[in-house]
Amino acid sequence: MSITGKPKKIGILTAGGDCPGLNAAIRGVGKTAIVEYGMEVIGFNAGYLGLINNDYIELKESQLSGILTVGGTILGTSREKPYKIVKNGNEESDKPEMIKQTYSKLGLDCVVCIGGNGTMKTAHMLSQEGLNIIGIPKTIDNDVYGTDVTFGFDSAVQIATEAIDRLHTTANSHQRVMIIEVMGHHAGWLALYSGMAGGGDIILIPEIPYNIRSVCKKIEHRYEDNKPYSIVVVAEGIEHPKEHSAASYIAEAIETYTEIETRKTVLGYIQRGGSPTPMDRILATRYGAFATQCIVEGNFGTMVAMRKSELTAVSLEEVGGNLRLVEPDNSLILKARKMGVSFGDEFMS
Ligand code: F6P
Repeated sequence: MSITGKPKKIGILTAGGDCPGLNAAIRGVGKTAIVEYGMEVIGFNAGYLGLINNDYIELKESQLSGILTVGGTILGTSREKPYKIVKNGNEESDKPEMIKQTYSKLGLDCVVCIGGNGTMKTAHMLSQEGLNIIGIPKTIDNDVYGTDVTFGFDSAVQIATEAIDRLHTTANSHQRVMIIEVMGHHAGWLALYSGMAGGGDIILIPEIPYNIRSVCKKIEHRYEDNKPYSIVVVAEGIEHPKEHSAASYIAEAIETYTEIETRKTVLGYIQRGGSPTPMDRILATRYGAFATQCIVEGNFGTMVAMRKSELTAVSLEEVGGNLRLVEPDNSLILKARKMGVSFGDEFMS
């Protein structure tokens, strides 16, 4: 949808799982739009739900002050999927139509959608319907296709690493095997990075099929080498019976096979909470400010991204619904293996 003259009014929404840095991104978009370009800015509440229901707040500079360091999102979020057909429903969802009505009724020149894979998929579909959309990639999982990094990831790595550091001392005191489950539904980036930062001995990620006997052999070899405790970092998305958590399944199997005392920790939503790290504040701010620059340049239907440390805009078509998974030959994995870190796939022959 072309804009006559300079863009005057934009909307922002945050959708999907929350993470530290969302408010920094909102602030980056909003302050740049208001201070540099004199735009009017509104924030839709609860992700795409706010766009569907015309539920928004005015975002003046005053609302954007003091939020850089605040976790969560001042706009709230939801996992609403406007294009998802209601199960067994025969009516086509009219939510996209409601979104278009909100967009034109408010006289918007663009909507900035801050979110993960699902959010970008919806953003692409709205863009195809003619709305001016810019995406900003966020998630603690770091699995948004098209960018090297999402904000939220660095904060989650710090939280998970601090937890792993603490597990070393209690594992050593009791000579136990400690299992820690971190988030990462599809991709193992968080497990890989926090596992390596925290000195994990075994790291299990969805992208590398593991063998439980291989995991147990590794632990037994460590004990034979007088290493009295082991730290096992698992991504929640690894293959395991769904009636258990990944951590419970792995812990039970290890204790059964090796008869070594084993305990588990599921870190859960702590990884999504609290104030963003300085790196996430900077990344979210850069993404936000660059998104507004893309609006001024009319570069719609894109998602801001970081590629080889350079800010760029990639098409939502390329991004929408794709995942960025850990490559099994990732350089960090290759180095880890050379240092004796196990990914649960040795002794497979
Ligand atoms: O997408 C981020 C994420 O935290 C995943 O790592 C996790 O599996 C999922 O969200 C949890 O979803 P919800 O917040 O809806 O429980």
